[in-house]
Amino acid sequence: MVAGTHLALADRIIDRERALFHERMGRSAEMTRAAGALAGGVSSSWQITDPHPIWIDRGEGSKVFDVDGNEYVDYHGGYGAMLAGHAHPAIVRAVSDRVRKGTHFAQPVEDAMVVAEELRRRYGMPLWRFGNSGTECTMDAVHLMRAYTGRDLILKFEGAYHGHHDSVQVSTWVVEGLGSARRPKSVAYSPGIPQAIVDLTLIAPFNDLEAVEAIFAEHPGQIAGIILEPVLMNCGILTPEPGFLEGLRRITTDSGALLTFDEVKTGLTLGRGGATRRFGVTPDLVCLAKAVGGGLPVSAIGGSEEVMGLISKGVYEQVGTFNGNPLGMAATRAMLTEVLVDDVYDHLEAIERRMGDGARRIVEEYSLPAYVVDLGAKGCITYSERRIRNYRDFLESFNEKHSLASWLIQFNRGVFLPPFAKGEQWLMSVQHTEADIDRYLDTLEVFAKAITGRTG
Ligand SMILES: Cc1ncc(COP(=O)(O)O)c(C=O)c1O
Repeated sequence: MVAGTHLALADRIIDRERALFHERMGRSAEMTRAAGALAGGVSSSWQITDPHPIWIDRGEGSKVFDVDGNEYVDYHGGYGAMLAGHAHPAIVRAVSDRVRKGTHFAQPVEDAMVVAEELRRRYGMPLWRFGNSGTECTMDAVHLMRAYTGRDLILKFEGAYHGHHDSVQVSTWVVEGLGSARRPKSVAYSPGIPQAIVDLTLIAPFNDLEAVEAIFAEHPGQIAGIILEPVLMNCGILTPEPGFLEGLRRITTDSGALLTFDEVKTGLTLGRGGATRRFGVTPDLVCLAKAVGGGLPVSAIGGSEEVMGLISKGVYEQVGTFNGNPLGMAATRAMLTEVLVDDVYDHLEAIERRMGDGARRIVEEYSLPAYVVDLGAKGCITYSERRIRNYRDFLESFNEKHSLASWLIQFNRGVFLPPFAKGEQWLMSVQHTEADIDRYLDTLEVFAKAITGRTG
């Protein structure tokens, strides 16, 4: 099957599946029309999906139900947050108990102490603080790197997303004015981000140590630190090549700069101590969010005595009315001490293996121009004929039509992957079962047949 034929089929599949989407989503369409007071009909711009947003009624275990009454196996997981699955009994109990005792005081509560101890044990980082979103903790990390070093410049990798504060909204999902691949330009993600701030964020290609070294050499003693996802998860799943994380550790240490791992997605989903433990490279700061709160809006920043010590000493004031909110802390405590117990990771690994192996078998059997990556509780099919190692590869090789066609086929048959599967991953929850995996694989096979012209 030549690529051109695949693409023609992809167009037909997309048209047919869009029509089916409309048939199944009458109530969602009505609600979108009725939501005139919600800007764009959604609460976050990344909830906008084409043809229209999908309105959810409820979640139970590994499933979600839309307002039209359709049931889905949930692999979206609220953009990677629902590692516990929906309405996990331990989370429900913890939140219900707390809600009766009051939900907010802006004073410390015991659960925060327990959670900090537990994160210290898992990550080996001695000091922790809390926030409410990934954006808040990566913002604190950037502030801390600058405060500690007294330097203004930071370095991030092209294509990587670290939240929506100005310093990191640079060269993320940008497709124009990128500059050379080895020495990318710093480009604002959206209007409203001052050029003066954009200029403080230097951009390097992921998995390219030489490029990072060259940037540090061009700015001696001026770079406060590097912020990165140790596994870059906005272009499918880009794993660090051997020696890459170790090299970044060496470069930052040698130049008196700091290293921050943004583990908002990888934390806890790649194992009990996230990517930090998995790859054995210790950064100065770690940012957690998404899964840590068991479905409540909680984030955490942890780090060394030296760097987080700036907070203890009052040199840097890490603040927020809702930081360490009792409801969030109760859920996080339950998540860490009751949900994510050791044997849960054995279960996650077993079902992930079934998923990864099954997907690889289908990709191979139908000779799909794609490959499968699975890591911890996360994985994806990357619709590209060649292995992607950085953002430019992704822009050049990622086949959006295949990705959209497979998303629509699977969605219309009860499998909810992150909308629209572009560069996102599936997330397994502790409540997913083998039957859930098999539904994914069955619907993937429907796509494989359709795109290779064997049916449909
Ligand atoms: C790696 C990474 N960092 C930070 C964030 C920002 O988190 P939040 O949306 O909770 O602000 C995200 C969100 O998707 C993310 O994927």
